[in-house]
Amino acid sequence: MDFHETILNRRSIRRFTDSPVPEATILKLLEYASAAPSACNRKPWEFYVVTEEKFLSPLRKASRFTNYISPLNIVVCGNTRRSLPLQLSSYWIQDCSAAIENILLGATSLGLGAVWCGLLPQVRPQDRVRKILSLPEHIIPLALIHIGTPSEARPPHEGLDMKRVHFVKEGAPVEEDE
Ligand SMILES: Cc1cc2nc3c(=O)[nH]c(=O)nc-3n(C[C@H](O)[C@H](O)[C@H](O)COP(=O)(O)O)c2cc1C
Repeated sequence: MDFHETILNRRSIRRFTDSPVPEATILKLLEYASAAPSACNRKPWEFYVVTEEKFLSPLRKASRFTNYISPLNIVVCGNTRRSLPLQLSSYWIQDCSAAIENILLGATSLGLGAVWCGLLPQVRPQDRVRKILSLPEHIIPLALIHIGTPSEARPPHEGLDMKRVHFVKEGAPVEEDE
């Protein structure tokens, strides 16, 4: 799949077959994740890879929006000991989000499906995931990604809403908010 196709074909997939994702594929997805940009190249992420039903089952119940059955979860967490100091510290969220998107695009390019399930800023789902994975205080669960072979098909994205595009030019009229 070329770049254009991968980007547009990436959709949130929430139904999967039960075929496992091979370990080599998991590592490839994590290599893509680690290639994401991060502020000052801190790479403040930690990836928790879950394939055992013992953990998948409680994880899917972390919230009603994570409740899908898949053979693989990757929980992407921020490591606050690796993040930038003081007022720059919350850059870790953007860094980890870039890593998540790389995983989603990588999954699409490999013929897999995935859905990004946000945990932060929901307090209870985060706490549940923290408990299930025994995360220490400095590791903050940002999102849980379900990954697997899709058992649903979704149409690709298309088009660009030009109302959301703003070419900044001298003398152009100020637009009203919509
Ligand atoms: C920050 C974030 C949090 C999300 N959380 C959830 C979630 O908890 N459960 C879910 O099913 N989808 C979740 N999604 C997926 C969105 O619902 C989905 O991206 C959106 O509907 C657009 O559809 P598409 O991904 O197929 O383009 C989340 C997406 C983002 C970016």
